[in-house]
Amino acid sequence: MIGISRREFLSGSVALLGAAGMKMPLWARLVGRDTATSQHILLGVDYYPDQTPESLWEEDARMMAEAGITNVRIAEFAWALMEPSEGKYDFAWLQRSIDILHRSKIAVILGTPSAAPPPWLSAKYPDIVEVDEHGEKLRPGGRRFTCPTNATYRRLSVNIATEMARRFAEHPAVIGWQIDNEFTLGSSPRCYCDFCRAGFQAWLRVKYGTLEKLNESWGTVFWSQHYSDWAQIPVPLPSGADPNPGLALDYGRYQSVANATFLGEQLSVLRKLCPHHFVTTNNVGAPYDEIDERELYAKVDFVAFDNYPGFFEMLLHQQGKTGSLLGAEIPTVVAMQHDFARSILRKPFLIMEEQSGKAGQRTFSPQPEKGQVRLWTYQAIAHGAMGINFFRWDTATFGAEEYWHGMLNHDRSKSPAFDEIVQTFRELKALGPEFLNSEYEAETALYFDYDSAWAIKIQPGHYSLRYADQATAWYGAMSPGHTGIDVIGPRDELSRYKTVFAPVLYVLSEEQAEKIRQYVRGGGMFVSSFRLGVKTESSQIVRKPLPGYLADVMGVTVEDYAPIYAQAPHVQFGSELAGPEAECGIWADILKTSSASVLASYSSGSHAGKAAITMNQFGKGKAVYVGADLHPRDLARVLGQITAMAGVKPVLNVPPGVELTVRMSGSRRWLLVLNHQGEAQSISLPTGHKDAITGKTYSGSADLPGYGVLILEKV
Ligand code: GLA
Ligand code: ZN
Repeated sequence: MIGISRREFLSGSVALLGAAGMKMPLWARLVGRDTATSQHILLGVDYYPDQTPESLWEEDARMMAEAGITNVRIAEFAWALMEPSEGKYDFAWLQRSIDILHRSKIAVILGTPSAAPPPWLSAKYPDIVEVDEHGEKLRPGGRRFTCPTNATYRRLSVNIATEMARRFAEHPAVIGWQIDNEFTLGSSPRCYCDFCRAGFQAWLRVKYGTLEKLNESWGTVFWSQHYSDWAQIPVPLPSGADPNPGLALDYGRYQSVANATFLGEQLSVLRKLCPHHFVTTNNVGAPYDEIDERELYAKVDFVAFDNYPGFFEMLLHQQGKTGSLLGAEIPTVVAMQHDFARSILRKPFLIMEEQSGKAGQRTFSPQPEKGQVRLWTYQAIAHGAMGINFFRWDTATFGAEEYWHGMLNHDRSKSPAFDEIVQTFRELKALGPEFLNSEYEAETALYFDYDSAWAIKIQPGHYSLRYADQATAWYGAMSPGHTGIDVIGPRDELSRYKTVFAPVLYVLSEEQAEKIRQYVRGGGMFVSSFRLGVKTESSQIVRKPLPGYLADVMGVTVEDYAPIYAQAPHVQFGSELAGPEAECGIWADILKTSSASVLASYSSGSHAGKAAITMNQFGKGKAVYVGADLHPRDLARVLGQITAMAGVKPVLNVPPGVELTVRMSGSRRWLLVLNHQGEAQSISLPTGHKDAITGKTYSGSADLPGYGVLILEKV
């Protein structure tokens, strides 16, 4: 039997939490620590005892233990069962389920249920529903239809979380909490109701202090929008014309605060009642959202994300696209999500839900290919995950997600990936603590800025310009260097990176510009693109030649800027970036150098001969301005050459479609080589290496089967 004892699980978790920089919880201290047998990874499933006949619970727990499962995440949608009417709680069923799991040594992560309030609640308090961006009230009946500001909903959410915490704080199976479920999901992640409007006004009062400041900051003299009372301030709902850009940007910030403080109220209760448990929340794993995920995760113990790579494939197909999602291949999009997850708190992260079979609500995504679920698991580990839960244990035979396959089919037979998952669990446990606790180190960073993302959404400039696409395409263009990438934001330290890539950094405060200036002056390489520094943090256009506050650092000014609709200009590269002439995509910034040198020029159209890409020596560092929007293929070449100029060397050259990351521990280094293609690949190795999974040694080259994984250590 592969199951582990509770003692083993807990002692392993101590190391795990230590690696995540977390305080040692009491439940772990009580059992002591035995490194010889410890497990250093959470390998779980999302489980719904509430949707499963009780007669099957024992069998579930037994099968889970046999499969090597260490934990479940449960109850996040079971509000109606836990509180059948206001203030009347029933946890007996949950207690029975947790007791059964505990007897099989399965640990429990409890979800608070505020993503799905029961009908009695919405009937009694109809005001709690969200209003979407069209001003439409959502109707109860689905999930995620509630307002984050509404005090009644906050109170009721805190109440149920409090009762759950009281009931299960001391249960030996419970190790931690997930608050709510996917704040960033839903048809409209932002609410525009009257409560949010009042909340926005109160938040603005604190932010600006006086209406005079607010009016000036937003430029409300335009279209006679001067506010003489805080109560006059609207939310950006349809109003005959576009909203004030400053107001619209502030509204995005307010909605992030509203969601984060909603979470914060439950967090405070859990901290107080369950000081020995970890607390997190989960989201769909993309940074490009209408809620700032950095804000959401700021106070939890570690980041948890949900990952459905195969579902993306269905989306792509539906959109009539092939190959590329957001300007990159799906494995690249997933890699970026993982890097973002790790970077938010600079800690190992947990995959709270991972696709394990066909997925979808109304339609099915393709069945993952043989080996793909294992590959996705290793991809998460490759980027620094400390655990993974598969969604879900069994497959519902009712409800809106009957098509979302778990490890068991509808008839409870094993799903096609069941044995593969069990095998992967076995392999991961065998890899041992040093590997599982190893670090991921990044030499380069992608700067992802929510303000710029939102401001561009408000006013794209070109109808095809999307910040998410640009950021993802740049991430994809950076990653073939395999140098490790962190996805960072305005609050992060820059100096630890050799290069910082910041595409379309459209909103740039003077303070951020100064931070970048110091970084470059100190020897860093800063690479940005068109639409750099166009707006201040109030979303006003900077009253300076572009790129505004960074003109000195970049050594250029933008002589003209051009959205491209027809007759795309061509770009010709100089010797440093040698390569075939490229076509400019949707945007061209026409650059005039002051101190920078020209790396590429426009070679056709009315700006022929003008600079398109430049590099400036500034202090000890360099600043590169990529003025032309390039096709991902050309971008990859250009960013690759620029990365090389910064002295960043590829760890290993691998063929396209093969991903490489490095994890380290002291002097030990493991290369994780992941083949995202169905066809076998061969990689060349300069020296002898041993695969940590199979123990096989390779010299000169190594063969990777389709969807295969190698964890190579030099011998
Ligand atoms: C999300 C949610 C889950 C479930 C799965 C599958 O990630 O968190 O509750 O809906 O997707 O749809
Ligand atoms: Zn609201």
